Amino acid sequence: MGIIGGGQLARMAQPPAINLGITLSVLAEADDASAAQVVPSSPVGEHTDTERVREFARGVDVVTFDHEHVPAEVLAALESDGVVLHPSPAALAHAQDKLRMRRRLTDLGIPCPAWAAVHDAAELEAFAAEHGWPVVLKTPRGGYDGKGVRLVRSADEAADWLGRADADGLLAEEAVDFRRELAVLLARSPSGQAAVWPVVETVQTEGICTEVLAPAPGLDPDLAARLSEAGLRIAGELGVTGVLAVEVFETRAPDGQPTYVVNELAMRPHNSGHWTIDGSVTSQFEQHLRAVLDLPLGDPSPRDRWTVMANVLGGDFPDLYPAYRHLMARDPGLKIHLYGKDVRPGRKIGHVDVSGSDLPELRERAQHAADYLQGVVTE
Ligand SMILES: Nc1ncnc2c1ncn2[C@@H]1O[C@H](COP(=O)(O)OP(=O)(O)OP(=O)(O)O)[C@@H](O)[C@H]1O
Ligand SMILES: [Mg+2]
Repeated sequence: MGIIGGGQLARMAQPPAINLGITLSVLAEADDASAAQVVPSSPVGEHTDTERVREFARGVDVVTFDHEHVPAEVLAALESDGVVLHPSPAALAHAQDKLRMRRRLTDLGIPCPAWAAVHDAAELEAFAAEHGWPVVLKTPRGGYDGKGVRLVRSADEAADWLGRADADGLLAEEAVDFRRELAVLLARSPSGQAAVWPVVETVQTEGICTEVLAPAPGLDPDLAARLSEAGLRIAGELGVTGVLAVEVFETRAPDGQPTYVVNELAMRPHNSGHWTIDGSVTSQFEQHLRAVLDLPLGDPSPRDRWTVMANVLGGDFPDLYPAYRHLMARDPGLKIHLYGKDVRPGRKIGHVDVSGSDLPELRERAQHAADYLQGVVTE
């Protein structure tokens, strides 16, 4: 199996690939990329270089992705070469382009925030006249970890982005007054089998996911069922193969009942699913491999009442290993995952998982471990 992109998602696919006897090959950004450190076959090449990607694809049976940034023209070249791609370029387009995603979900009747494509100040002001300031402005392509998302209070504040927007324009959305953020994670295979994990709560700090609670505490069972159904429907309608993450805002209907709007889609293993490595019978990385190879899917049941995941972001200390020695001694139940990435402030460099029956205690342990690795706390 070939994976385009050598980040931590490709890296975390290697343990289940080893267990299942699947040989991975990664087209990596650099020979010391996160996945290249652990996958023996990791040729270096740019995902934007059509000839390089074609050559890489010739050496594998099936191609999947570590990120959604492979350009449409590169994907089209692979398709015309007859390369098997999961997800397909037609499905992936909805995770690559937020305007396209909004159009399609709206056509399917999936609840979304109020939105419009805006090309200039007048269109942005017209949208705000209807939905109010502030407006959430997004670049349709290329965003991640909140880059490409901005809250603007006037058209003036958005002038720089509007000036640089291409013919498609920018995505303007109402600023949703959500109760919390949730994520629906599932996998779908080319033959149409699907398996859904329990809906989780995700906590973002400055646009970056910092904590995941699995399952989402206190989630209304009816809303949980509607969300899983919506996720399955999106996967089926868009023809998604592999793992699909649906990021959701939990809101209140006018009658006070819990309801939701969809934020965005990701068609690959997702940060909201890192808890599954230690907390589910089948991890999202194993499930992605099974789905991409059209093998029967694994059991997505949780192993414990609760699993909490906390992301480790780069802090002031370049050397993480003295900290983890202390953490292992302090909390033997803690599962530490480091991605082999250089420490840079705010960069996702690892995560911790902890499972059990006492949610507040698990949150405290996970947060302490993440803070300690980041150097935010020293005891
Ligand atoms: N319409 C909205 N109303 C309120 N908050 C929003 C809205 N859209 C996005 N946000 C906030 O900004 C965060 C990042 O937005 P989004 O998920 O669209 O960006 P991204 O950079 O693609 O994210 P990711 O880190 O998932 O790749 C969301 O998780 C949410 O906290
Ligand atoms: Mg997001």
